[in-house]
Amino acid sequence: MKPTNSTLSSKSEEMIAKENQYGAHNYHPLPVVLKRGEGVFVWDLEDKKYFDFLSAYSAVNQGHCHPKIVNAMIQQAQTLTLTSRAFYNNQLGNYEEYVTHYFDFDKVLPMNTGAEAVETALKLCRKWAYEVKGIPENQAQIIVCENNFHGRTTTIISFSNDETARKSFGPFTSGFIKIPYDDIEALENALQSTPNIAGFLVEPIQGEAGVYVPSDGYLAKAKALCEQNNVLFIADEVQTGIARTGKLLAVHHENVQPDILILGKALSGGVYPVSAVLANDAIMNVIKPGQHGSTFGGNPIAAAVAIAALEVIKVEKLAENAERLGIILRKGLNEIAQRNSLITLVRGKGLLNAIVINCDEESDLAWEICMKFSEYGLLAKPTHGNKIRLAPPLVITETQIQECLVIIEKALNDFK
Ligand SMILES: Cc1ncc(COP(=O)(O)O)c(C=O)c1O
Repeated sequence: MKPTNSTLSSKSEEMIAKENQYGAHNYHPLPVVLKRGEGVFVWDLEDKKYFDFLSAYSAVNQGHCHPKIVNAMIQQAQTLTLTSRAFYNNQLGNYEEYVTHYFDFDKVLPMNTGAEAVETALKLCRKWAYEVKGIPENQAQIIVCENNFHGRTTTIISFSNDETARKSFGPFTSGFIKIPYDDIEALENALQSTPNIAGFLVEPIQGEAGVYVPSDGYLAKAKALCEQNNVLFIADEVQTGIARTGKLLAVHHENVQPDILILGKALSGGVYPVSAVLANDAIMNVIKPGQHGSTFGGNPIAAAVAIAALEVIKVEKLAENAERLGIILRKGLNEIAQRNSLITLVRGKGLLNAIVINCDEESDLAWEICMKFSEYGLLAKPTHGNKIRLAPPLVITETQIQECLVIIEKALNDFK
């Protein structure tokens, strides 16, 4: 059992108890009950204010309750919410035009959650492999990376190597080959030695695994190898995309344009579930009516919200802010690491960062440190035991980053 928070009010304790009693225990939240959010801040039931350094796993890049995005949602919710795709609506086409121009693709397939978008990309890749590349039916293989995280559906966990995510959920979907991440030779070998490869699915930075940034040049080389072998390069930018790493997409750091792009999370600024798969006509046109879809995918609210969320990224120059403040954050963290041996490593890009704590993956220390951060007014969560992800909303300012560095150092010093 992880340590709990002794300063909780009875109201907070009541809310936690309700979740425990009536909700499935599929998460282990930090014991803090939030009621309000604005920009980089959230408030708990006791009116305590916190810096949010998780941003709902990078969904709230534009900051909590961004007025422009919330207004777009309210206006559309009062006008037309859902038509299903049985009919046209007056929002979807505008959004499809906007998002395809924004990311430079011919077409988009709208879905709701990240995992659904990954599933969509896998189906699209397989169909392209059979109908365009000419792979014999049911023989297509997709290469994935070890320690990946792409979501929670049965097919997606089929190619995970996280035993907690997989155990007792089999039988699994076949057709996936796992290779080490950031290993270009392994990709080359897999492409040479295995017949019927349709695609290579990769996170440009492995977020859930602990913010693993691959070597410079890895993504560009991987894309070139895919091109040489007529294999689709599929970038899962659900966590890394939409300005988080200091560019609009993390693959842009290496000037890569994926064959299939997967987006979610910040596509709505965290106000509504919106995800998308983008590709050019030669790939996307293999999907015909009746072959894939979702009741809510491409609904009018999602369309209006996503346009507003993407506009905010450009107007407020959030990629530029993430790039600049990420450098300042990592510099500050590295300076703390020199004074406090609890941090063994600082890594990340833009405002997707992690510190590795000097303990093994099974230790509770990273959790206890996050509890201490919370006591001092900053919310973060360990990922894979001894790594703490530090990913504030991209609207954060330099002064606020400096304030947060003070909180982080003060909390870490309590463990000296
Ligand atoms: C890279 C990546 N892909 C897919 C997903 C799944 O998204 P969702 O939780 O919206 O299904 C996540 C979620 O964290 C992710 O980080």
